[in-house]
Amino acid sequence: MINFKRKIAECLAASVEGLLLEELEAMIEVPTDTKLGDYAFPCFRLAKAMRKAPAAIAKDIAEKLQENEIFSKVEPVNAYVNMFLSREAFLSEVVTAVLQEGSRFGGSDIGQNRKVIVEFSSPNIAKPFHIGHIRSTVIGNAIYKLYDFIGYDTVRINHLGDYGTQFGKMIVAYRRWGNKEDVVNTPIKSLLAYYVKFHEEAENDPSLEDEARATFTKLEKGEPEETALWQWFREESLKEFSRVYQMLGIEFDSYAGESFYSDKMQHVIDIMNDKKLMVESDGAQIVDLSEYNLSPALIMKKDGSTLYITRDIAAAVYRKDHYDFYRNIYVVASQQNLHFQQWIKIVELMGFPWAKDCIHVPFGLVSLEDGVMSTREGRVVFLEDVLNKAVEQTRAIIMEKNVNTDNVDVTAKQVGIGAVIFNELSNSKIKDYVFSWDKVLNFDGETGPYVQYTHARAASVLRNAGITEENAEASLGDPKKLALEYISSDSAYDLTRLLYAFPGIIIDAAERYEPSIVTRHIVDIAQCFNRFYHNEHILVEDENEKKAKLALTYAAKQTIKNGLLLLGMEAPERM
Ligand code: ARG
Repeated sequence: MINFKRKIAECLAASVEGLLLEELEAMIEVPTDTKLGDYAFPCFRLAKAMRKAPAAIAKDIAEKLQENEIFSKVEPVNAYVNMFLSREAFLSEVVTAVLQEGSRFGGSDIGQNRKVIVEFSSPNIAKPFHIGHIRSTVIGNAIYKLYDFIGYDTVRINHLGDYGTQFGKMIVAYRRWGNKEDVVNTPIKSLLAYYVKFHEEAENDPSLEDEARATFTKLEKGEPEETALWQWFREESLKEFSRVYQMLGIEFDSYAGESFYSDKMQHVIDIMNDKKLMVESDGAQIVDLSEYNLSPALIMKKDGSTLYITRDIAAAVYRKDHYDFYRNIYVVASQQNLHFQQWIKIVELMGFPWAKDCIHVPFGLVSLEDGVMSTREGRVVFLEDVLNKAVEQTRAIIMEKNVNTDNVDVTAKQVGIGAVIFNELSNSKIKDYVFSWDKVLNFDGETGPYVQYTHARAASVLRNAGITEENAEASLGDPKKLALEYISSDSAYDLTRLLYAFPGIIIDAAERYEPSIVTRHIVDIAQCFNRFYHNEHILVEDENEKKAKLALTYAAKQTIKNGLLLLGMEAPERM
């Protein structure tokens, strides 16, 4: 697709002295009020070099640009040159690009195949996978898809919380009060119950704590019985997590969790010792970070056992060796900001310049309408239950509204789960938010169902005209030959401008780790398409007019679809 800013800069270069093409391009503005043109060029900076008043310069430039056919109108207004693109040239460019690029529209190769790791989800085994985890899971998946779409070589890692002293407790508790059948039937619920019971009993019987420590030591040494039990807990928990991932359509390339690094800790401890980073404090090894205004990091306990942070340091070093990443992204709640600041600083002090390529992407808290969640008080909402409930409620709405579908179950799933995902990605990720069913499932607000419905509406218009993804190229013909004068109305043009912006939106969202930029943009496209749909009659008698309008409809549908898929949603053809 033509880069219009670049193209205009080239036109300007002919009449402006002393500025580089890139400088000119950077000076071009996009007015918020389209009445002032599609682009505007301020002339203040040129006055000195050209020894003329800015308004006079603007007048000269406008006169020269006027001759270029990409513009329909160029007018000087005070010190500005306001430029209006020729709508037909613009439409032709955009519609052709979307039709030709199809599912690739919006993608690029700016990543040049460089390796980007996106670590996300990372729940703790034997603990509930609750609504709080949905954020990392859904935001992380969208960030992965964005990087993949712009040409990076991506790796998705689930850094499972599958290690630590709590597994000593869990093994002890299972041996005393557990039974196999319960673990197989309801792994997480049962393991969690044992864990809670352990804490209750340990209040009266402190020897349990010693037993748990000794058991964890056995696990660390790789004793077969303890290892087998831990392995089994891990597998059963993973089965439960996988069900949720399957519902969300999410996959990982690696499940290398905390336990994976248990034999890679010595290596990083050695480096820290070499660099004299650690000091002893009460028998434990810590890194003093006061110089950097950070609290001290505990790296190794008195008994030699390592911690969460030690495993993160080992993981980063391993990932650099193994993947040689360009960027290593962690999608983890903002509650862990300090943790990430600490360990990334330590990696830097260990002498690794790539510490700067480890990026913590934080996000805010989810709360329930009646307050914050608390595992201990039993106020948790399981993610699986939320997804099932979303599907159920959607099914009810489909029945009530007489939604057009071949398969209620499939559509209810696509829309219900899509609604939860879209809701997650609607607000800037750092904001805390309150989970509300009414907001999630609203078909009319700026919601997932609304965007999906708009996509289905466009699909239905195309279907009525006999156009499908398979035959579109043949039925619409050469997009360069479309009778574009029929789609130069304001509503059609506004829509086209949004489609044109889509590839830049994708890059922006990836670079800012902010999928909500895409979410907002496809809501805008959906709204604009609906305006076009209401203002204009698409399926008219005149073949040329109809074809041009259908081509724009197709382009809008394709762009919405690409956006939905990037967010990790589906784009139903009917609803
Ligand atoms: N398992 C942790 C939790 O649920 C999240 C892990 C985040 N990733 C990391 N590399 N520390 O809180």
